[in-house]
Amino acid sequence: MESSVYAELVPAYIANLRIYQSGKSIAEVQRTYGVQEVVKLASNENPWGASPRAMEAVRAHLQEVHRYPDQAAIDLRSALAHRYHLKNENIIVGNGSEGIMALIARAFLHDDDEALTAHGTFTGFPILCHSRGITPTCVPLRDYCFDLEAIAERITPRTKLIYLCNPNNPTGTFFSRRAFDRFMENVPARVLVLLDEAYFEFACKLADYPDSMDYRHDNVITLRTFSKAYGLAGLRIGYGFGHPELIASLWKVKLPFEPGLLSQVAGVAALEDEDFLSHTLEQNQQGLDLYTRELTRLGVQWVPSAANFIAIETPPGWNAQQLFTALLRRGVIIRPLEQSGLPGNLRISIGKPEENKTCLSCLEEVLKLGPEAA
Ligand SMILES: Cc1ncc(COP(=O)(O)O)c(C=O)c1O
Repeated sequence: MESSVYAELVPAYIANLRIYQSGKSIAEVQRTYGVQEVVKLASNENPWGASPRAMEAVRAHLQEVHRYPDQAAIDLRSALAHRYHLKNENIIVGNGSEGIMALIARAFLHDDDEALTAHGTFTGFPILCHSRGITPTCVPLRDYCFDLEAIAERITPRTKLIYLCNPNNPTGTFFSRRAFDRFMENVPARVLVLLDEAYFEFACKLADYPDSMDYRHDNVITLRTFSKAYGLAGLRIGYGFGHPELIASLWKVKLPFEPGLLSQVAGVAALEDEDFLSHTLEQNQQGLDLYTRELTRLGVQWVPSAANFIAIETPPGWNAQQLFTALLRRGVIIRPLEQSGLPGNLRISIGKPEENKTCLSCLEEVLKLGPEAA
């Protein structure tokens, strides 16, 4: 393509950015592969839909959408403050947890700051660093887990921000309380730790899971979301907890009316929807149990998961793209993990029981056929 005069307007670090690739859509797979029935297990969404209480709240407030939402999102922040025993000034809400991650990059990262994370984690974070002209230092995972010791060793006087994801997307692994305690002892107070707990609800009952709310580290900002366990990905609501001074800086760079009016009321209602949450968690566990049993039977290596997805290793003789395409042809969308830095792995989001069975039986079929015939 010829470069236009506009190319000069774009800084090199923006021109070189790779756009975030979301999972393939159902419509796209229907069109491309001519299949009617499509099972989408690619984006870690809630297969059980949205919290019914949240949907009811959205319906009840539809007639108000000509008004701007409450800029301070007081109801939603108060509900979160009540739930997590915090003050409102500890809380920011935004357009998904990734929206808040963007605020963190915008508010804190500049010039020759360094950012640190793992190679093999959520791709949203490196993209945001690059958008600030900063190439993050990425430390390899160890056994598919964040290697906190190795990350701590890479801290330099220029390190400003460390991104940790617990449980980690896309591997589903989590680091323990002990590992986190030891890590925090080695992180200077001047370094910010961004703790992404997008899958918190799925892991929080595990004995060894370090729930960041049990700690009081002034340099930790926790991010959580309504997109996963509460099923509200399409409404874009996330929240962050942290020291009031850090949170106040984030408010300064936030667009005034995020999240939208319907999102705010949905968030409040979803928090009260215990039934929906426990159904989601119970079904997710059953789904995970099914995958671990069946994948073992099929001889596919899998990674123990504390989230609503499971990562697998590409079976010998296959590459990840071949397996991904063979499943797409049968109407099953999963996620190859090359973009996440794990070219030999794929990730399957846990679906409803019938979706999981379809995925597993298609997997069995293609593995029997082999990469050439599948
Ligand atoms: C680890 C992690 N963080 C953040 C996000 C973004 O979630 P949200 O919908 O809250 O922006 C995702 C979404 O997949 C994720 O996996």
